[in-house]
Amino acid sequence: MKIPLSHPIRIDRRDSATIVTINNAKRMNALSQSVVASLLSILEEINDDPSVRAVIITGDGPKAFCAGADLKERAGMTAAQVRRFLRDLRLIMARIEGLSKPVIAAINGFAFGGGLELALACDIRIAAKTAFMGLTEVRLGIIPGAGGTQRLPRIVGFAKAKELILTGRRVSAKTAYQIGLITGSFESENLLNEAIVLAEEMALAAPLALRQAKFAIQQGINVDLNTGLELEQKAYEVLLPSEDRLEALAAFKERRAPAFKGR
Ligand code: COA
Repeated sequence: MKIPLSHPIRIDRRDSATIVTINNAKRMNALSQSVVASLLSILEEINDDPSVRAVIITGDGPKAFCAGADLKERAGMTAAQVRRFLRDLRLIMARIEGLSKPVIAAINGFAFGGGLELALACDIRIAAKTAFMGLTEVRLGIIPGAGGTQRLPRIVGFAKAKELILTGRRVSAKTAYQIGLITGSFESENLLNEAIVLAEEMALAAPLALRQAKFAIQQGINVDLNTGLELEQKAYEVLLPSEDRLEALAAFKERRAPAFKGR
């Protein structure tokens, strides 16, 4: 992956995770058309790259994860351009959810509108103690357009999601933790490291198992229990013939750590 320094997205490859940073702190890492286009193609590359074990999405600088749509750019866009932008943004969310590896949102600051929607599509959300987040769209005469009305209720529940979306309220990391919107909050300077620690913990697992677990949870949340249980069974079946399952059993017997190959 060769990304020039001025690129709207920065990529930092570590052993356990690839860190994807929205790289426009001056505009609070807002989602411009170029950020969206870059995110889309980078996610595709990551999905096809077996060496990437997990992904961390974060924002550049100390203030913002992502302040949502780039409202300055938006002011000069036609309705058709806005529609295209939203189509691509929705594709990004779908790509994150469909990604064959876990995705962690490290919310380092403001996450509003599309910025929070981006975090909602991730598998795990942790935040800096100083972060604020909210689906603020109704205050701008619109509604969340990249999955927020659907994903937020699935994460924090119907009642709380209605309260947050209908008020457009911005909540602190403390409140976000209390309502289950994030699963941890940390001092700003430790946030990225905490995300890496999470990724390292997941890197102990067999890659195929992570993929199937994510698939079963992701698909199962949208269907009735019996269909979900069938999905789980099918996801499990995929792992039975895997080399890594046999490797884990052998490693247990031999009292050593398994060496997974993702097969
Ligand atoms: N799109 C484009 N530019 C944005 C932006 C956005 N969504 N959010 C912030 N910026 C820009 C500001 O215009 C400003 O640029 P300038 O210095 O050239 O004037 C710069 O980022 C810093 O923002 P500023 O408002 O001065 O900082 P702040 O710390 O006082 O407030 C926010 C930061 C994020 C709370 C505030 O900018 C804000 O509310 N932004 C809109 C967030 C929102 O509602 N997003 C949902 C969109 S659907």
